[in-house]
Amino acid sequence: MDTKLLLDWDRDHVWHPYAPLRKAPPVFAAERASGSVVYLRDGTALIDAVASWWCVAHGHNHPAIVEAIRGQAEKMTHVMFGGFTHEPAVELSRRIARLCPSGLDRVFFADSGSIAVEVAAKMAVQYQNAVGRPERNRLVALKGGYHGDTCCAMALSDPDGMHRLFRGLMPRHFFAERPATRFGDVWNPADVASVERLLDEHGGEIAAVICEPVFQAANAMWFYHPEFLAALRRLCDAHGVLLVFDEIAAGLHRTGPRWAHCHAGGGATPDIMCIGKALTGGALTLAATVASGRVADAISAGRPAAFMHGPTYMANPVACAAGCASLSLFENGDYGAKARAAEAVFNERLAPLRALENVRDVRVLGAVGVVELRAMPKQDAIRRVILESGVWLRPFSDFVYSIPPLTATESELRRICDAIAAVSALPPGPPPDDPDFHE
Ligand SMILES: Cc1ncc(COP(=O)(O)O)c(C=O)c1O
Repeated sequence: MDTKLLLDWDRDHVWHPYAPLRKAPPVFAAERASGSVVYLRDGTALIDAVASWWCVAHGHNHPAIVEAIRGQAEKMTHVMFGGFTHEPAVELSRRIARLCPSGLDRVFFADSGSIAVEVAAKMAVQYQNAVGRPERNRLVALKGGYHGDTCCAMALSDPDGMHRLFRGLMPRHFFAERPATRFGDVWNPADVASVERLLDEHGGEIAAVICEPVFQAANAMWFYHPEFLAALRRLCDAHGVLLVFDEIAAGLHRTGPRWAHCHAGGGATPDIMCIGKALTGGALTLAATVASGRVADAISAGRPAAFMHGPTYMANPVACAAGCASLSLFENGDYGAKARAAEAVFNERLAPLRALENVRDVRVLGAVGVVELRAMPKQDAIRRVILESGVWLRPFSDFVYSIPPLTATESELRRICDAIAAVSALPPGPPPDDPDFHE
């Protein structure tokens, strides 16, 4: 297809994320991708500084993952998971159980991160129902959080975001203040007071507390003190409330350790954990909600004994085969070291940007480097930086950031930092039409 025809049709007929039809900013026509690089139809090479929304952990088209997909596709591309099982799903659940904190080994496969969160919320409510507390059917979430775009996941995300637009569609939950103590600062126990108050006042209605451990990603790009998680664990135990960690963005070494909650040591193990994004290394859509034996056994002893969720493409065998190959790479490589190496480059190259007039803050943890601006520059100026630097950035809100493939080389990381520096040095643009919306 002629590239002009492709882009014209795309602009008028194909919706892109968080973009209008027809009036959307121009998109790039991607042709192929390899390692850290996405190649456009005209041959332009762009280093993917956001790992295609943070999932391409091993680089694009990793040969081991491509081979696993090819091998499984030749045998069986899909079979319904109601009434059938298959080796890719069982093997992947065994690998997930091996990597999860001890006790978390009951796996529900979901189609995307948002659905994994929906499943976690339903599990928490069904658990409370099964143990004789059906009135506990709401959750506590944190301001500044993001858990996805489907209605339940959106209802658990920051209430200042999309809530006002979709109010009628969403269940209502409780929101606690986000922890204010930065990662690396001295822990302030007052950070947990807001959750404590909600549990004291509404504990009888609350099934679970959910949070993104340590790294609030898509809404706030904020790293907070891990001691918050240990305090949450104690509060949840005291109130008979489950603790759900959404590790979809932060898990699988993004912030250094295998799971972000590991920054808190052993004192903060969840009852339910959501995994997605890097699970298949960005090759195919797949996520998982992993529950403890206590949660799964209680649900199975309840009425109904069945956990009430079952999507058509549940545990798709090709996606599971990609997941097995991805987790095998994680198990056999030192990804913690890769994240720390990225952290060192981000610290060295991004910290000096604090001196720029339009920069409010710089934050780095593991393979996440964030520059918070006072005001976002104009879209067309950012696009020029992308093309001139050969680095794909996707700034949003006031953040210009990188969450690169964990396999990005030092020279790629340096080029990413140079591109972030170039955007940070641009003059601020006009205020956005609607600052509340994610991405
Ligand atoms: C922490 C977190 N949870 C859930 C989601 C939703 O995942 P998905 O986009 O795969 O539905 C995201 C996506 O950015 C996320 O960052």
